Amino acid sequence: MFDIAGKIALVTGGRRGMGRTHALMLAKQGAKVVITDVDLNECQLVEAEVRSGGGEAACFKMDVSNAEEVNRVFDEVIKQFGRLDILVNNAGIYAPKQALELTEEDWDKTININLKGQFLCAQRAAKEMAKNNWGRIINIASIASGGVGIGFEGSTHYAASKAGIIGMSESLAVELAPLGITVNVIAPGVIDTPMVHEQDKELSEDVMKEILQRVPLKRIGRPEEISAAVVFLASEEASYVTGATLYVDGGWLAA
Ligand SMILES: NC(=O)c1ccc[n+]([C@@H]2O[C@H](COP(=O)([O-])OP(=O)(O)OC[C@H]3O[C@@H](n4cnc5c(N)ncnc54)[C@H](O)[C@@H]3O)[C@@H](O)[C@H]2O)c1
Repeated sequence: MFDIAGKIALVTGGRRGMGRTHALMLAKQGAKVVITDVDLNECQLVEAEVRSGGGEAACFKMDVSNAEEVNRVFDEVIKQFGRLDILVNNAGIYAPKQALELTEEDWDKTININLKGQFLCAQRAAKEMAKNNWGRIINIASIASGGVGIGFEGSTHYAASKAGIIGMSESLAVELAPLGITVNVIAPGVIDTPMVHEQDKELSEDVMKEILQRVPLKRIGRPEEISAAVVFLASEEASYVTGATLYVDGGWLAA
């Protein structure tokens, strides 16, 4: 089950956090992984981890909000691996700020990385996947994507970017289905990554306590618990799943 042996998978934002575990787990299931991020040195460490586990990997510096850089890296991946089968659109930033203090620059930065970046990669990936009539695009949104009755302070721009991912993915799923490509979204709850720890000031002890009270499983998630969903959606076994949003949130939405 969930064998992706020989598939070529590209993970954005793969140097740390969930991107790192996505790369490691995809490789463990047999995929050749391309790790991309804004920091090449840290990508190289993940590449080495994949190799030391017996997997095959490559890495590239790629800022997802830069169309020229995205195209250059995809060209290189096709040159090296011959095709692309799986895209995990994981790169993202979370820079909380009160709505009344947000600048146009803040807004554009979050939207450009979190939303435009996913579109640029998905569009280019789909062109490659269509050549083989097979592909898996997995877009990472958030429990903060909206539409589920939960708003977060300081997250206007972040929530807008993540909500956009769900709308974009549903439309892409419809357009790309005839080309053999599925497009799905994973919306994580609070997961133990550097992104969360960097927000310590904003995510004070009290806020964390409140979050945990709302989560029936009474803990925040581990990155590997999101990667498991990535592996499922990347696999042949997920062939009838497209346009879906999978919430992996410890039961938060059910409570
Ligand atoms: N941690 C959580 O609780 C949580 C919850 C819901 C959704 N998410 C989402 O999950 C994804 C992974 O987040 P994480 O928690 O592992 O955070 P993280 O900060 O550890 O990882 C995000 C990665 O994205 C990279 N990145 C940032 N800007 C980039 C750019 N312009 N181009 C390429 N890469 C870029 C960063 O360098 C980093 O490696 C993000 O999309 C995030 O919004 C996280």
